[in-house]
Amino acid sequence: MAAILILNGPNLNMLGKREPEIYGFETLDDIRAMCEDKASELGHTIDFRQSNHEGELIGWIQDARDSFDGIIINAAAYTHTSIGIHDALKLADKPVIEVHISDPETREEFRHISYVTPVAKEVIKGKGAKGYVLALEAFSTIL
Ligand code: DQA
Repeated sequence: MAAILILNGPNLNMLGKREPEIYGFETLDDIRAMCEDKASELGHTIDFRQSNHEGELIGWIQDARDSFDGIIINAAAYTHTSIGIHDALKLADKPVIEVHISDPETREEFRHISYVTPVAKEVIKGKGAKGYVLALEAFSTIL
């Protein structure tokens, strides 16, 4: 059984209302429920969190070092800007899976760089909310 931290970055609390043509109609609570169901099926425990603040996400990643076996992260816009999150993920020394609901590489050019990818074991993108469930399944192989 693995303990997995699932982190969500800025504006993901607005899923359901936010550009549904890109992100779909599922809310973050719907995604949390999907993850809880899949985790219990796989025998994992999860802690599912969201923050609009880079420093809070970094603090949670630092704490994960001692409390979790792996991290799933959709860093949202911070994916494309945050060396701080990149450094924290490196320091956490845990397997990381990067998730994006959309496929940032098919969107605006400023979304083509990810500071998370170099520290991620796997990247799941463009699969909608289901990407989170696929990430949990992938952890069963990685761990
Ligand atoms: C996102 C893609 C990012 O480019 C964007 O800033 C987000 C969401 C996704 O899940 O598709 O906020 O990470």
